Amino acid sequence: MAMLARLTALAGRTTAPDAADEAGVSALRVTMILAADTAAQADVERMNIAGCSIRAFRGPLDAFIANAPMVRRTDMLVIEIDPDDAPALAALEEFAAGPGARMAVVAAARDLTISATRRLLRSSIADVLPVPFSLEELGQAVESARAGLARRMTGDSGRGRLGSIIAFHGALGGVGTSMIAAQAALHWAETKQVLVIDLDVQRGTTALYLNLKPRLTLNDLIDADDRLDVEFLKMVAERHQSGLSVVASPNDMTGLDAVTPEFIDRLLDLAAQNYDLVVLDMPGVWMDWTALAMQKADLIGLVTQLSVSGVQQARRQLDVLEANGLGDRVRLVMNRMTAGLFGKYDTDEAASVMRAPVHFCLANDFPAISAALDEGVSVSKVKMKSRIEKELRQMTTAMADDIAAAASVGASA
Ligand SMILES: Nc1ncnc2c1ncn2[C@@H]1O[C@H](COP(=O)(O)OP(=O)(O)O)[C@@H](O)[C@H]1O
Ligand SMILES: [Mg+2]
Repeated sequence: MAMLARLTALAGRTTAPDAADEAGVSALRVTMILAADTAAQADVERMNIAGCSIRAFRGPLDAFIANAPMVRRTDMLVIEIDPDDAPALAALEEFAAGPGARMAVVAAARDLTISATRRLLRSSIADVLPVPFSLEELGQAVESARAGLARRMTGDSGRGRLGSIIAFHGALGGVGTSMIAAQAALHWAETKQVLVIDLDVQRGTTALYLNLKPRLTLNDLIDADDRLDVEFLKMVAERHQSGLSVVASPNDMTGLDAVTPEFIDRLLDLAAQNYDLVVLDMPGVWMDWTALAMQKADLIGLVTQLSVSGVQQARRQLDVLEANGLGDRVRLVMNRMTAGLFGKYDTDEAASVMRAPVHFCLANDFPAISAALDEGVSVSKVKMKSRIEKELRQMTTAMADDIAAAASVGASA
C-alpha cells in the first residue's frame, strides 16, 4: 500500500549519528549498494578496513530506505550510481538531504567526469568514489566520512546505544497483545534496559498490567513537542520494581490523530538511543504513524487467537505487512491455546488458511495470567513452572536471538 511509501521519507530523519561512544570512536558501519558486476568483482564481505564494519545491501535504494532498522545501523552509505541517470541521481540527492542526512552518503560511479563529480559534490552527497575503487580509496572515503560525522556530532544526541524495537500488534482486540507486551518486557528487563511505550492511546492497559499509576503519560511527551529530549523521556517513563521503564498511554481519551509520524520518528529514535530494547504496545489500527512505528521496528509480534475471526484478521494484517515489505519481520503468536491429544497444539489448519507459519503458541491460563496482571509481575512470580511461563520465556528468548542475529549479520534485500 502507498501509505508506507510516503512514510519512508520520514524514517530516521531526526536520528543523530551513534557511531561514537564515551570511550572514543566505535566501528563505523558502512553499507554498500553496488551494481551486480561491481559487487561480483569487489568482495565486499571480505573487505577489511580498521575501525569499520562493512556489509553489502542487495537491492535498490528504495528497498534500503524502506528498511528502517538497516538505515538506523548505517553511518556511511556507499552507493553505485550512473551519474547520467537523472531520476536516480535526484532520488539519491533527496535521500542524502532528508532521511540520510545523519549518515555520510558516498556516490560511487564509473567513468566519472569532472563535471559529474562537481555536480555530485554540490548536493548533499558527502563524497564520490571511482568504480572500480581500491581498498585504499575506500579507506580514504571512510576517514573523511568519519571526520564529517564527528564534526556534526553535537551534545547529547550523539552518543547512545543502538537499541532494538519490537512492536506487538493485535490482529483483533482482546487477544492478549498487552499481556504479551508487558510479560515479554518483564522477561527482557531481567538482562537489558527496556522501555515499554503504550501506543494504544485509547485503550492502553500496559501501566495497569504492570500495576503502575504514572502521573505523566504519552500525552506529556506529545505536548513537549520540540522540547522532547532524553531527560524528559526519562522523567515521563515510570520505573517498575523490576527496572523496566514504562511510558503509559494517556489517562484521558485521546484522538488517534494526536500522534503524528514526526513525533513517532523522534520518540522512537530517542528511545532506541537510550535503551537496549524498546517494546511497543500498538493500537491494532493502521494510521500513518502506526505504519511508521511498524516500519521502524526490528521485529513485529502479530498476536491472534485460534478462532475463525482471529485467523481471518491475522491474514488481513499479514496482507498489509507483506505489501509493505515487512513480512519477514513478523512473528505470529497464537495466544490462549488449548492443547489437544498428547498435550500438543494443532495449528496446521490455521497456518494453511493464513498461508503463514505460526511461530509461537501460548497456553490459555486465565488464573496465572490474571494473577500476574493484577499484581503487575512476571507470571513466573505467581505460578512457577507453568506451561504459559515456559512458552513466554521460549518466545522472548527466540525473539531476542532473532534481533541479535539480524543486527550482527546485516541483511540483503
Ligand atoms: N494466555 C492467556 N490465558 C488466559 N487469559 C489471557 C491470556 N492472554 C490474555 N488473557 C486475558 O485476556 C484479556 C485481554 O488481554 P489483553 O492483553 O488486554 O488483550 P489486548 O491487548 O489484545 O486487547 C485479559 O483479561 C487477559 O487477562
Ligand atoms: Mg491492549
